[in-house]
Amino acid sequence: MASLLHLDSSADGSGDAVSRRLTALFARTWQARHRDAGRRCSYRYRDLAADPVPPLDTAYCALGRRAEQHGFPPPAGVPALLGGPAEARAWALTRPLVDELLAADTVLIGAPMYNYAVSALLKAWIDRVSFPGTFVRPDGTASPLAATRVVVVATRGGGYGAGTPLAGHDFQTPYLRAYFGKQGVAAEHVHVVSAEWTLAELVPDLADRREQAAASLAVARDQVAAHAHAEADRCAADRRPDARPDRPAGVA
Ligand SMILES: Cc1cc2nc3c(=O)[nH]c(=O)nc-3n(C[C@H](O)[C@H](O)[C@H](O)COP(=O)(O)O)c2cc1C
Repeated sequence: MASLLHLDSSADGSGDAVSRRLTALFARTWQARHRDAGRRCSYRYRDLAADPVPPLDTAYCALGRRAEQHGFPPPAGVPALLGGPAEARAWALTRPLVDELLAADTVLIGAPMYNYAVSALLKAWIDRVSFPGTFVRPDGTASPLAATRVVVVATRGGGYGAGTPLAGHDFQTPYLRAYFGKQGVAAEHVHVVSAEWTLAELVPDLADRREQAAASLAVARDQVAAHAHAEADRCAADRRPDARPDRPAGVA
């Protein structure tokens, strides 16, 4: 069964958040595509603002160091390394997030730009889920994310296109591409859709950018719908019994 993990990380839960509206469009389109084709699918939603991932603590770091000392075991090997109740709690907060990511064919991320980077809510999820040995092993074992697709919906109040004055200030989308690449997601499996100048409607000084903002949003909506169709159809095509040989045992 094809599976989608949908993460939203805008702190704005009011319904105005552009990233949330676009990721909701993706999720609706993806699910409808499966429904219309008579295919079953699995959809998991995580709102990182409503249900924030706790920041890392000493116990997480101690357990992580122990995992590194013991050869970076996969998640199934971590419980044998637990050094007390605090580490057990740290792992209990971590493992479900890891399992959700490993189980997903497609990961959809709503990622607003905050101070030129991703939101702290998304960064907390990234830091926790990237437990040593989960995706990257020093022995070169293939990453369990090698076949995973990632669709990032990036929103930003200003414009960061090539040649614009702030082009060098985008630490949001290059960061996410670099991060998922280092976790073993193939570069061609990471798709980024951007909606720019989202503040133009609000900020009087940006009034001359309103047309550009509307055009950027229209393109983003089209791209989101196209990616949702493509991802749903690809999942269905890949769902042969041997389609995910890299997926670890025990992950559905
Ligand atoms: C805390 C905060 C920091 C922001 N920093 C930036 C920034 O550095 N650059 C920018 O272009 N927009 C910035 N913005 C504007 C947001 O990127 C913009 O409003 C975007 O649409 C937010 O995503 P959302 O609509 O999905 O909530 C910031 C907004 C907030 C709330």
